[in-house]
Amino acid sequence: MTRLRTAILISGRGSNMDELIAAARAPEFPAQIALVLSNRPDAPGLAKAKAAGIAVAAVDHKIYAGREEFERSLQIVLETYRIDFLCLAGFMRLFTPWFISQWRGRILNIHPALLPAYRGLHTHERALADGVKIHGCTVHFVVPEMDEGPIVAQAAVPVLDGDDAETLGARVLAQEHVIYPLALRLVASGAVRVEGNRVLGALAESDARLVAPAGDGVTNG
Ligand code: GRF
Repeated sequence: MTRLRTAILISGRGSNMDELIAAARAPEFPAQIALVLSNRPDAPGLAKAKAAGIAVAAVDHKIYAGREEFERSLQIVLETYRIDFLCLAGFMRLFTPWFISQWRGRILNIHPALLPAYRGLHTHERALADGVKIHGCTVHFVVPEMDEGPIVAQAAVPVLDGDDAETLGARVLAQEHVIYPLALRLVASGAVRVEGNRVLGALAESDARLVAPAGDGVTNG
């Protein structure tokens, strides 16, 4: 089996990165994590990836005159490591259409909301302010428009009376850790196809509960 050589792009703590690395340790997992790349040399996730035995690199966006110059350096690093596929996991830079065109159909992102609701930042605060009862997370293919692109997997969580952004965010994050490895597995194994804005062919019944509202304490087992 050829395993898709995948880079995880991070800017911060890298908890989703941890889950992807752990999932890809299974020999039958269809992707291998060949690189963790950050735009912030001090991202805590880089040290964790290194400790896990993964190659790491940093390309500091602040030293570049513009976004495209930064991306051309990223691209050189990705080519050096012969990367086939990208997972954005808390990567806090927007890409130009040029970069996306290099990776179209080969780049996933995770967003802490049920897209197309709550694109952008501060999703948990905004969900609480709106009084929604269901919130969640989404893994989607990346397109030039921010937080758009065909949806691979979603998980929903309830919003509880006592929630603040922190407790709600933690409940969502636990589900992010479930659906990101699932989505990478589905895409890397070729189990899904994209038709227009829809990703089809994916969900076995055992996975389908992950796209339905899940109670607190739902497990991944
Ligand atoms: C996650 O909430 C993810 O959805 C968002 O950024 C956060 C990254 O967290 N895009 P971590 O670095 O994976 O812990």
